[in-house]
Amino acid sequence: MRNNSETIDKISERSGERTRVCGWIANKRSSGKIRFLQLRDGTGVIQCVVMADRVTPEVFELADHIPYESSVIVTGQVQKDPRSSIGFEIAVDNIEVISEALPYPISKKDHGVAFLMDHRHLWLRSSRQNALMKIRSVLTRSARSYFDELGFISVEAPILTPTACEGTTSLFEVAYFDRSAYLTQSGQLYGEAAAMALGKIYVYGPTFRAEKSKTRRHLTEFWMIEPEMAFCELPDAIDLAEGLICRIVSDTLNQCSPQLKVLERDLSRLELVKPPFPRLTYTEAIDILKQKGMDIEWGADLGGDEESVLSGAFDKPVFVTHYPADIKAFYMKRDPTNDRLALAVDLLAPEGYGEIIGGGQREDSLEALEHRIDEHGLDKEPLEWYLDLRRYGSVPHAGFGMGIERALAWISGIHHVRETIAFPRLLDRLYP
Ligand code: 4AD
Ligand code: MG
Repeated sequence: MRNNSETIDKISERSGERTRVCGWIANKRSSGKIRFLQLRDGTGVIQCVVMADRVTPEVFELADHIPYESSVIVTGQVQKDPRSSIGFEIAVDNIEVISEALPYPISKKDHGVAFLMDHRHLWLRSSRQNALMKIRSVLTRSARSYFDELGFISVEAPILTPTACEGTTSLFEVAYFDRSAYLTQSGQLYGEAAAMALGKIYVYGPTFRAEKSKTRRHLTEFWMIEPEMAFCELPDAIDLAEGLICRIVSDTLNQCSPQLKVLERDLSRLELVKPPFPRLTYTEAIDILKQKGMDIEWGADLGGDEESVLSGAFDKPVFVTHYPADIKAFYMKRDPTNDRLALAVDLLAPEGYGEIIGGGQREDSLEALEHRIDEHGLDKEPLEWYLDLRRYGSVPHAGFGMGIERALAWISGIHHVRETIAFPRLLDRLYP
Protein backbone atom coordinates (compact mmCIF):
# COMPACT_ATOMS: atom_id res chain seq x y z
CA MET A 1 0.00 0.00 0.00
CA ARG A 2 2.87 2.31 0.81
CA ASN A 3 4.53 1.65 -2.57
CA ASN A 4 5.58 4.91 -4.22
CA SER A 5 4.33 6.81 -1.21
CA GLU A 6 6.29 9.23 0.96
CA THR A 7 6.04 10.18 4.63
CA ILE A 8 5.51 13.85 5.42
CA ASP A 9 8.79 14.22 7.32
CA LYS A 10 10.67 13.21 4.13
CA ILE A 11 8.55 15.22 1.71
CA SER A 12 11.30 17.74 0.96
CA GLU A 13 13.20 14.94 -0.81
CA ARG A 14 10.34 14.80 -3.35
CA SER A 15 10.25 18.49 -4.20
CA GLY A 16 8.70 18.95 -7.66
CA GLU A 17 7.83 15.24 -7.97
CA ARG A 18 4.48 13.52 -8.13
CA THR A 19 4.04 11.35 -5.03
CA ARG A 20 1.49 9.64 -2.77
CA VAL A 21 1.00 10.32 0.92
CA CYS A 22 -1.00 7.97 3.19
CA GLY A 23 -2.69 9.64 6.14
CA TRP A 24 -5.73 10.99 7.91
CA ILE A 25 -7.73 14.20 7.37
CA ALA A 26 -6.80 16.47 10.28
CA ASN A 27 -8.52 19.63 9.08
CA LYS A 28 -10.09 21.20 5.99
CA ARG A 29 -11.45 24.44 4.64
CA SER A 30 -12.89 25.70 1.37
CA SER A 31 -12.81 28.99 -0.48
CA GLY A 32 -14.44 29.20 -3.91
CA LYS A 33 -12.77 26.95 -6.46
CA ILE A 34 -10.09 25.81 -4.03
CA ARG A 35 -10.13 23.44 -1.09
CA PHE A 36 -7.45 22.84 1.53
CA LEU A 37 -6.98 19.59 3.39
CA GLN A 38 -4.55 19.17 6.27
CA LEU A 39 -3.22 15.64 6.00
CA ARG A 40 -1.42 14.05 8.96
CA ASP A 41 0.48 10.79 8.89
CA GLY A 42 2.12 10.69 12.33
CA THR A 43 5.40 12.08 11.00
CA GLY A 44 3.92 15.50 10.26
CA VAL A 45 1.09 17.51 8.74
CA ILE A 46 1.01 18.79 5.17
CA GLN A 47 -1.43 21.05 3.38
CA CYS A 48 -3.03 19.45 0.30
CA VAL A 49 -4.46 21.96 -2.17
CA VAL A 50 -7.43 20.70 -4.21
CA MET A 51 -8.22 22.85 -7.27
CA ALA A 52 -11.35 22.36 -9.36
CA ASP A 53 -9.40 22.42 -12.62
CA ARG A 54 -6.90 19.76 -11.52
CA VAL A 55 -9.16 16.98 -10.17
CA THR A 56 -12.39 15.26 -11.18
CA PRO A 57 -15.66 16.83 -9.93
CA GLU A 58 -16.07 13.80 -7.61
CA VAL A 59 -12.72 14.39 -5.93
CA PHE A 60 -13.42 18.12 -5.63
CA GLU A 61 -16.72 17.33 -3.94
CA LEU A 62 -15.08 14.70 -1.71
CA ALA A 63 -12.56 17.28 -0.45
CA ASP A 64 -15.44 19.31 0.89
CA HIS A 65 -17.42 16.54 2.54
CA ILE A 66 -14.88 14.02 3.73
CA PRO A 67 -15.21 13.63 7.53
CA TYR A 68 -12.33 14.43 9.88
CA GLU A 69 -10.00 11.50 10.59
CA SER A 70 -11.01 9.59 7.47
CA SER A 71 -8.03 7.64 6.13
CA VAL A 72 -6.92 8.49 2.61
CA ILE A 73 -4.15 8.24 0.06
CA VAL A 74 -3.48 11.58 -1.61
CA THR A 75 -1.65 11.74 -4.93
CA GLY A 76 -0.23 14.98 -6.23
CA GLN A 77 2.77 17.15 -6.92
CA VAL A 78 5.04 18.29 -4.08
CA GLN A 79 5.49 22.05 -4.33
CA LYS A 80 7.56 24.52 -2.37
CA ASP A 81 5.43 26.83 -0.24
CA PRO A 82 7.22 29.42 1.87
CA ARG A 83 4.06 30.03 3.98
CA SER A 84 3.89 26.40 5.09
CA SER A 85 5.55 25.47 8.40
CA ILE A 86 7.22 22.53 6.65
CA GLY A 87 8.01 24.49 3.48
CA PHE A 88 5.94 22.30 1.12
CA GLU A 89 2.40 21.57 0.07
CA ILE A 90 0.78 19.08 -2.31
CA ALA A 91 -1.13 20.10 -5.43
CA VAL A 92 -3.67 17.27 -5.41
CA ASP A 93 -4.44 15.07 -8.44
CA ASN A 94 -6.46 12.41 -6.69
CA ILE A 95 -7.76 11.35 -3.28
CA GLU A 96 -8.43 7.68 -2.59
CA VAL A 97 -10.56 7.08 0.49
CA ILE A 98 -9.45 4.04 2.49
CA SER A 99 -12.05 4.41 5.24
CA GLU A 100 -14.55 7.18 5.78
CA ALA A 101 -14.68 8.08 9.46
CA LEU A 102 -17.82 8.42 11.55
CA PRO A 103 -18.33 11.90 13.08
CA TYR A 104 -15.13 12.39 15.09
CA PRO A 105 -15.76 12.99 18.80
CA ILE A 106 -12.76 15.28 19.39
CA SER A 107 -13.20 18.74 17.88
CA LYS A 108 -11.36 22.04 18.04
CA LYS A 109 -13.43 23.19 21.00
CA ASP A 110 -12.08 22.82 24.53
CA HIS A 111 -12.93 19.41 25.87
CA GLY A 112 -12.72 18.61 29.58
CA VAL A 113 -9.96 16.39 30.89
CA ALA A 114 -12.32 13.49 31.70
CA PHE A 115 -13.64 13.50 28.13
CA LEU A 116 -10.16 13.55 26.65
CA MET A 117 -8.99 10.80 28.98
CA ASP A 118 -11.98 8.64 28.01
CA HIS A 119 -10.91 9.17 24.40
CA ARG A 120 -7.21 8.77 25.03
CA HIS A 121 -6.94 6.27 22.14
CA LEU A 122 -8.05 9.10 19.78
CA TRP A 123 -6.60 12.03 21.73
CA LEU A 124 -3.14 10.54 21.01
CA ARG A 125 -3.57 11.74 17.41
CA SER A 126 -3.45 15.41 18.39
CA SER A 127 -0.33 17.47 17.78
CA ARG A 128 0.49 17.98 21.49
CA GLN A 129 0.22 14.30 22.27
CA ASN A 130 2.18 13.42 19.16
CA ALA A 131 4.94 15.78 20.33
CA LEU A 132 4.96 14.30 23.84
CA MET A 133 5.22 10.71 22.63
CA LYS A 134 8.11 11.63 20.34
CA ILE A 135 9.97 13.37 23.16
CA ARG A 136 9.32 10.35 25.39
CA SER A 137 10.81 8.07 22.78
CA VAL A 138 13.94 10.24 22.51
CA LEU A 139 14.20 10.54 26.29
CA THR A 140 14.07 6.79 26.97
CA ARG A 141 16.53 6.04 24.17
CA SER A 142 18.83 8.76 25.47
CA ALA A 143 18.74 7.42 29.05
CA ARG A 144 19.47 3.88 27.91
CA SER A 145 22.29 5.05 25.62
CA TYR A 146 23.86 6.98 28.50
CA PHE A 147 24.14 3.79 30.56
CA ASP A 148 25.02 1.58 27.57
CA GLU A 149 27.89 3.89 26.62
CA LEU A 150 29.23 3.84 30.19
CA GLY A 151 29.38 0.04 30.04
CA PHE A 152 26.30 -0.72 32.15
CA ILE A 153 24.61 -4.03 31.37
CA SER A 154 20.85 -3.94 30.80
CA VAL A 155 19.04 -6.48 33.00
CA GLU A 156 15.31 -7.18 33.34
CA ALA A 157 13.75 -7.50 36.77
CA PRO A 158 10.60 -9.57 37.34
CA ILE A 159 7.18 -7.91 37.34
CA LEU A 160 5.64 -10.53 39.63
CA THR A 161 7.44 -10.48 42.95
CA PRO A 162 7.04 -12.12 46.35
CA THR A 163 7.57 -8.99 48.45
CA ALA A 164 7.59 -5.20 48.78
CA CYS A 165 10.50 -2.94 47.87
CA GLU A 166 9.05 0.50 48.63
CA GLY A 167 6.75 -0.15 51.58
CA THR A 168 3.80 -2.48 51.99
CA THR A 169 1.08 0.16 51.74
CA SER A 170 1.28 0.61 47.97
CA LEU A 171 1.40 -3.02 46.81
CA PHE A 172 -0.83 -4.39 44.08
CA GLU A 173 -1.65 -7.94 45.04
CA VAL A 174 -2.41 -10.49 42.33
CA ALA A 175 -3.42 -14.13 42.57
CA TYR A 176 -0.46 -16.34 41.73
CA PHE A 177 -1.93 -19.84 41.45
CA ASP A 178 -2.65 -20.85 45.06
CA ARG A 179 -0.83 -17.91 46.64
CA SER A 180 -0.32 -14.15 46.31
CA ALA A 181 2.22 -12.20 44.33
CA TYR A 182 2.77 -8.45 44.08
CA LEU A 183 3.39 -6.30 41.03
CA THR A 184 6.88 -4.86 41.30
CA GLN A 185 7.27 -1.41 42.88
CA SER A 186 10.90 -1.16 41.75
CA GLY A 187 13.47 -3.40 40.10
CA GLN A 188 16.09 -2.29 42.60
CA LEU A 189 16.47 -5.39 44.79
CA TYR A 190 17.00 -7.56 41.71
CA GLY A 191 19.25 -4.87 40.27
CA GLU A 192 21.44 -5.20 43.36
CA ALA A 193 21.79 -8.97 42.78
CA ALA A 194 22.64 -8.29 39.13
CA ALA A 195 25.24 -5.66 40.12
CA MET A 196 26.98 -8.28 42.29
CA ALA A 197 27.09 -10.54 39.22
CA LEU A 198 27.90 -7.96 36.52
CA GLY A 199 29.33 -4.88 38.26
CA LYS A 200 27.32 -2.04 36.71
CA ILE A 201 23.77 -2.69 35.52
CA TYR A 202 20.50 -0.92 34.84
CA VAL A 203 16.95 -2.13 34.96
CA TYR A 204 14.38 -0.46 32.72
CA GLY A 205 10.78 -1.48 33.06
CA PRO A 206 7.28 -0.79 34.32
CA THR A 207 6.64 -0.42 38.05
CA PHE A 208 3.38 -0.35 39.97
CA ARG A 209 2.20 1.45 43.07
CA ALA A 210 -1.28 1.20 44.53
CA GLU A 211 -0.99 4.80 45.66
CA LYS A 212 -4.18 6.48 46.71
CA SER A 213 -2.64 9.82 45.73
CA LYS A 214 -4.57 11.91 43.25
CA THR A 215 -1.89 14.42 42.33
CA ARG A 216 -0.31 15.67 39.15
CA ARG A 217 2.77 13.50 39.89
CA HIS A 218 1.28 10.11 40.68
CA LEU A 219 0.49 7.26 38.34
CA THR A 220 -0.26 3.73 39.52
CA GLU A 221 1.80 2.31 36.67
CA PHE A 222 4.94 4.11 35.61
CA TRP A 223 8.31 3.34 34.02
CA MET A 224 11.59 3.60 35.81
CA ILE A 225 15.22 3.35 34.78
CA GLU A 226 17.32 2.10 37.68
CA PRO A 227 21.12 1.87 37.58
CA GLU A 228 22.98 -0.03 40.29
CA MET A 229 26.75 -0.10 40.81
CA ALA A 230 28.94 -2.40 42.95
CA PHE A 231 31.89 -0.86 44.81
CA CYS A 232 30.21 2.55 44.77
CA GLU A 233 28.97 4.96 47.38
CA LEU A 234 26.41 7.76 47.64
CA PRO A 235 28.54 10.44 45.85
CA ASP A 236 29.07 8.06 42.90
CA ALA A 237 25.30 7.64 42.51
CA ILE A 238 24.85 11.43 42.66
CA ASP A 239 27.49 12.03 39.97
CA LEU A 240 25.87 9.39 37.76
CA ALA A 241 22.43 10.96 38.18
CA GLU A 242 23.80 14.42 37.32
CA GLY A 243 25.32 13.01 34.11
CA LEU A 244 22.08 11.26 33.20
CA ILE A 245 19.97 14.39 33.57
CA CYS A 246 22.41 16.53 31.56
CA ARG A 247 22.43 13.89 28.82
CA ILE A 248 18.65 13.53 28.51
CA VAL A 249 18.13 17.30 28.56
CA SER A 250 20.76 17.94 25.89
CA ASP A 251 19.49 15.07 23.69
CA THR A 252 15.90 16.29 23.88
CA LEU A 253 16.98 19.88 23.18
CA ASN A 254 19.00 18.73 20.17
CA GLN A 255 16.59 16.16 18.76
CA CYS A 256 13.13 17.45 19.71
CA SER A 257 13.09 21.16 18.97
CA PRO A 258 9.95 20.99 16.74
CA GLN A 259 8.12 19.03 19.44
CA LEU A 260 9.23 21.34 22.27
CA LYS A 261 7.99 24.23 20.13
CA VAL A 262 4.54 22.61 19.75
CA LEU A 263 4.43 22.39 23.57
CA GLU A 264 5.61 26.02 23.86
CA ARG A 265 8.40 24.95 26.20
CA ASP A 266 10.61 27.77 27.50
CA LEU A 267 13.93 26.40 26.26
CA SER A 268 15.99 28.96 28.15
CA ARG A 269 15.09 27.10 31.36
CA LEU A 270 16.39 23.81 29.97
CA GLU A 271 19.57 25.44 28.66
CA LEU A 272 20.49 26.19 32.31
CA VAL A 273 20.67 22.47 33.06
CA LYS A 274 24.47 22.12 33.18
CA PRO A 275 26.65 20.58 35.89
CA PRO A 276 27.26 21.04 38.76
CA PHE A 277 23.79 20.87 40.33
CA PRO A 278 23.39 22.25 43.85
CA ARG A 279 23.63 19.60 46.59
CA LEU A 280 21.87 20.15 49.93
CA THR A 281 21.33 17.95 52.91
CA TYR A 282 17.77 17.33 54.09
CA THR A 283 18.58 19.40 57.20
CA GLU A 284 19.64 22.36 55.01
CA ALA A 285 16.51 21.87 52.93
CA ILE A 286 14.32 22.10 56.05
CA ASP A 287 16.07 25.37 56.99
CA ILE A 288 15.38 26.83 53.54
CA LEU A 289 11.73 25.77 53.72
CA LYS A 290 11.33 27.38 57.15
CA GLN A 291 12.92 30.59 55.86
CA LYS A 292 10.37 30.52 53.05
CA GLY A 293 7.59 30.34 55.61
CA MET A 294 6.68 26.66 55.23
CA ASP A 295 5.27 24.93 58.26
CA ILE A 296 7.56 21.90 58.46
CA GLU A 297 9.67 20.31 61.19
CA TRP A 298 12.82 18.21 60.95
CA GLY A 299 11.77 14.58 60.55
CA ALA A 300 8.77 15.13 58.28
CA ASP A 301 8.86 13.84 54.71
CA LEU A 302 8.91 16.42 51.93
CA GLY A 303 5.55 16.42 50.15
CA GLY A 304 4.68 17.84 46.75
CA ASP A 305 4.26 21.37 48.16
CA GLU A 306 7.59 21.39 49.96
CA GLU A 307 9.38 19.96 46.91
CA SER A 308 7.82 22.62 44.69
CA VAL A 309 8.94 25.44 46.98
CA LEU A 310 12.42 23.99 47.36
CA SER A 311 12.99 23.25 43.68
CA GLY A 312 11.49 26.63 42.80
CA ALA A 313 14.35 28.26 44.77
CA PHE A 314 16.95 27.01 42.25
CA ASP A 315 17.44 27.36 38.49
CA LYS A 316 18.88 23.88 38.16
CA PRO A 317 17.82 20.49 39.45
CA VAL A 318 18.86 20.14 43.09
CA PHE A 319 20.05 17.07 45.02
CA VAL A 320 18.75 16.58 48.55
CA THR A 321 20.71 14.00 50.58
CA HIS A 322 20.88 12.54 54.09
CA TYR A 323 17.17 12.24 54.86
CA PRO A 324 15.98 11.00 58.24
CA ALA A 325 16.26 7.20 58.09
CA ASP A 326 12.75 6.86 59.55
CA ILE A 327 11.10 8.21 56.41
CA LYS A 328 13.12 6.11 53.98
CA ALA A 329 12.99 2.46 52.83
CA PHE A 330 14.45 -0.48 54.77
CA TYR A 331 17.37 -1.04 52.41
CA MET A 332 18.98 2.39 52.89
CA LYS A 333 22.41 2.46 54.53
CA ARG A 334 22.71 4.68 57.58
CA ASP A 335 25.16 7.56 57.65
CA PRO A 336 28.15 6.22 59.63
CA THR A 337 28.55 9.67 61.25
CA ASN A 338 24.89 10.00 62.30
CA ASP A 339 22.71 6.94 62.75
CA ARG A 340 19.47 8.92 62.39
CA LEU A 341 20.27 9.73 58.77
CA ALA A 342 20.06 7.55 55.65
CA LEU A 343 22.55 7.79 52.78
CA ALA A 344 19.64 8.68 50.52
CA VAL A 345 19.40 11.09 47.61
CA ASP A 346 16.46 12.61 45.78
CA LEU A 347 16.77 14.89 42.78
CA LEU A 348 14.21 17.67 42.60
CA ALA A 349 13.53 19.17 39.18
CA PRO A 350 13.23 22.98 38.91
CA GLU A 351 10.15 25.06 38.06
CA GLY A 352 8.24 23.38 40.86
CA TYR A 353 8.33 19.87 39.39
CA GLY A 354 9.86 18.20 42.43
CA GLU A 355 11.27 14.69 42.81
CA ILE A 356 12.21 12.91 39.59
CA ILE A 357 14.93 10.64 40.99
CA GLY A 358 15.17 8.68 44.25
CA GLY A 359 18.04 6.49 45.35
CA GLY A 360 21.09 6.16 47.55
CA GLN A 361 23.62 3.80 49.05
CA ARG A 362 22.35 0.39 50.14
CA GLU A 363 22.82 -1.30 53.51
CA ASP A 364 25.66 -3.77 52.96
CA SER A 365 25.91 -5.26 56.45
CA LEU A 366 23.95 -8.48 56.98
CA GLU A 367 23.29 -7.74 60.62
CA ALA A 368 22.11 -4.17 60.05
CA LEU A 369 19.88 -5.23 57.17
CA GLU A 370 18.25 -8.04 59.19
CA HIS A 371 17.59 -5.50 61.91
CA ARG A 372 15.96 -3.04 59.45
CA ILE A 373 13.75 -5.75 57.96
CA ASP A 374 12.47 -6.47 61.48
CA GLU A 375 12.04 -2.76 62.25
CA HIS A 376 9.98 -2.28 59.10
CA GLY A 377 7.82 -5.29 60.00
CA LEU A 378 8.75 -7.09 56.77
CA ASP A 379 8.69 -10.85 56.36
CA LYS A 380 12.27 -12.16 56.19
CA GLU A 381 11.58 -15.35 54.29
CA PRO A 382 10.85 -13.88 50.84
CA LEU A 383 13.93 -11.65 51.32
CA GLU A 384 16.38 -14.46 52.14
CA TRP A 385 17.82 -14.26 48.64
CA TYR A 386 18.39 -10.52 49.16
CA LEU A 387 20.16 -11.21 52.46
CA ASP A 388 22.38 -13.71 50.61
CA LEU A 389 23.86 -10.74 48.71
CA ARG A 390 25.27 -9.63 52.13
CA ARG A 391 26.39 -13.18 53.03
CA TYR A 392 28.46 -13.82 49.91
CA GLY A 393 30.89 -11.03 49.19
CA SER A 394 28.96 -7.94 50.25
CA VAL A 395 30.32 -4.63 48.94
CA PRO A 396 29.34 -0.98 49.19
CA HIS A 397 26.86 -0.32 46.39
CA ALA A 398 24.53 2.42 45.31
CA GLY A 399 22.02 3.33 42.64
CA PHE A 400 18.84 5.21 41.93
CA GLY A 401 15.62 5.19 39.96
CA MET A 402 14.42 7.89 37.57
CA GLY A 403 10.71 7.97 36.82
CA ILE A 404 10.33 8.48 33.07
CA GLU A 405 6.94 10.22 33.31
CA ARG A 406 8.05 12.77 35.89
CA ALA A 407 11.28 13.50 34.02
CA LEU A 408 9.30 13.92 30.80
CA ALA A 409 6.69 16.18 32.43
CA TRP A 410 9.45 18.50 33.57
CA ILE A 411 11.45 18.51 30.32
CA SER A 412 8.30 19.06 28.24
CA GLY A 413 6.96 21.63 30.68
CA ILE A 414 3.56 19.98 31.03
CA HIS A 415 1.55 20.13 34.20
CA HIS A 416 0.28 16.60 34.77
CA VAL A 417 1.96 13.21 34.32
CA ARG A 418 -1.21 11.77 32.76
CA GLU A 419 -0.13 13.16 29.37
CA THR A 420 3.38 11.70 29.52
CA ILE A 421 2.45 8.07 28.86
CA ALA A 422 0.29 6.74 26.03
CA PHE A 423 -2.25 5.02 28.27
CA PRO A 424 -1.99 6.35 31.82
CA ARG A 425 -3.12 4.32 34.81
CA LEU A 426 -4.35 6.45 37.64
CA LEU A 427 -6.25 5.91 40.87
CA ASP A 428 -9.54 6.42 39.05
CA ARG A 429 -8.57 5.36 35.55
CA LEU A 430 -8.20 1.95 33.96
CA TYR A 431 -9.88 2.78 30.60
CA PRO A 432 -9.08 2.74 27.72
O1 4AD B 1 11.80 7.28 45.12
P1 4AD B 1 11.30 5.97 44.63
O2 4AD B 1 10.18 5.33 45.32
O3 4AD B 1 12.59 5.03 44.63
C1 4AD B 1 12.61 3.73 44.30
O4 4AD B 1 11.70 3.08 43.86
C2 4AD B 1 13.99 3.13 44.41
N1 4AD B 1 13.85 1.69 44.65
C3 4AD B 1 14.75 3.41 43.13
C4 4AD B 1 16.17 2.89 43.18
O5 4AD B 1 16.93 3.34 44.00
N2 4AD B 1 16.52 1.99 42.30
O6 4AD B 1 10.90 6.10 43.09
C5 4AD B 1 11.87 6.52 42.15
C6 4AD B 1 11.26 7.49 41.16
C7 4AD B 1 10.73 8.77 41.77
O7 4AD B 1 11.76 9.69 41.98
C8 4AD B 1 9.74 9.23 40.71
O8 4AD B 1 10.42 9.83 39.63
C9 4AD B 1 9.17 7.91 40.24
O9 4AD B 1 10.11 6.91 40.55
N3 4AD B 1 7.89 7.63 40.92
C10 4AD B 1 6.69 7.83 40.36
N4 4AD B 1 6.32 8.32 39.16
C11 4AD B 1 5.01 8.40 38.87
N5 4AD B 1 4.05 8.00 39.71
C12 4AD B 1 4.36 7.49 40.93
N6 4AD B 1 3.38 7.06 41.74
C13 4AD B 1 5.73 7.40 41.30
N7 4AD B 1 6.39 6.95 42.38
C14 4AD B 1 7.70 7.10 42.13
MG1 MG C 1 11.17 8.75 46.38
